[in-house]
Amino acid sequence: MNQDTLNLTQHSANDINIHAMSQSVTQSDILAQLEQAFVQHFGYAAQQVCHAPGRVNLIGDHTDYNGGFVLPAAINFGTWVAGHTRNDRIINVVALDCAGERVSFSLDNISFDEVSPWSNYVRGSLIALVKALPDFGGADLVVKGNVPRGAGLSSSASFEVVILKTMAALYDLPLSGEQAALMGQQAENEFVGCNCGIMDQMISAMGKQHNAMLLDCRSLEIQYARMPEDLAIIIVNSNVKRGLVDSEYNTRRGQCEQAAAFLGKASLRDVTLAELNAAKAELEPVLYRRAHHVISESIRTCDMLAALNRHDMAEISALMAQSHRSLKNDFEVTTSQLDILVSLLADKLGEHGGARMTGGGFGGCVVALTERSHVDKVLATLAEDYHAATGLKADIYLCHAVDGAFVAV
Ligand code: GLA
Repeated sequence: MNQDTLNLTQHSANDINIHAMSQSVTQSDILAQLEQAFVQHFGYAAQQVCHAPGRVNLIGDHTDYNGGFVLPAAINFGTWVAGHTRNDRIINVVALDCAGERVSFSLDNISFDEVSPWSNYVRGSLIALVKALPDFGGADLVVKGNVPRGAGLSSSASFEVVILKTMAALYDLPLSGEQAALMGQQAENEFVGCNCGIMDQMISAMGKQHNAMLLDCRSLEIQYARMPEDLAIIIVNSNVKRGLVDSEYNTRRGQCEQAAAFLGKASLRDVTLAELNAAKAELEPVLYRRAHHVISESIRTCDMLAALNRHDMAEISALMAQSHRSLKNDFEVTTSQLDILVSLLADKLGEHGGARMTGGGFGGCVVALTERSHVDKVLATLAEDYHAATGLKADIYLCHAVDGAFVAV
């Protein structure tokens, strides 16, 4: 049995929503559903099935669009696509998670879809692919995923990357993981209208089993860090509906750019804490706080890589706590519920792990790292305590680091 499935029954009996299916079980179920649905919708068998994972960011939030460092891991929840080439230029896509909705368009005329917004991730990704590697034709596609949507675990990045991976597999295109990631980001920035950085697509394309991935978001250089065997990744969804995500995200981005411009630099990546502090008196306080978060978070992210490599639990916990405080006080992207979850987790973990919000913020998830021997103790009362404090139900995901996008069948 996969370690993450241990005690599932026990937790379910306590009426806690714990999602910890082993990837193999999940994947074989999903593959069977996809293959069956493909035949049902298109009347013949799929040629290939591809997968791209969602992600959790262990540390380094709101640093990617400032050219800084991030340390995410690809997780055992993701998106799968079954596909077959066509002899024309038509793309047919069926979304099993949207009641089997079917969308059709031509590669020669890709426009924004107001009726089925999910299809814009496909459309935007294919526009980017047509521009860079035009040597491909139409396809029949069926999609299914199990990344909780709107939770900040990158369901959309995994969707973009898996679509690109599928087209590359079907048409034997020379598409690297980095290219797929950049095209996915381009789809978000230029077509869907979300001004995100490069972290989510890069980890979905380039993640590595049992490893976290330090990414230099300026050079796109990668350094993998093996997750210690006995370290569990716990993700807790606050189930706070993420509000104002796009507008606040864009505001934060703008403030970071303003701070960098004020300091005479192209991006905050080029500013040291000493330089920032030297300019503190002249800088608008809110811009100082935003920049302080970004610069200190990048330093913490590199320190976290070293702490993971040393298996230094005390340092891992301290860095995660500092990161959350910085996101709360300097960057102001947490919510009271995220703060409550992190403080409940910190109390329960003591010296045996750390917790912080993860992703863009304004709702969504927190991530905790702890020794496996502590998981049961931590989870025993977490959902009840969270409910008592907020009136909300928490969803808990026991995760492990998996490979980035691959051809599954
Ligand atoms: C969202 C964006 C990422 C990144 C995070 C914050 O997930 O898609 O590019 O900016 O927020 O770290």
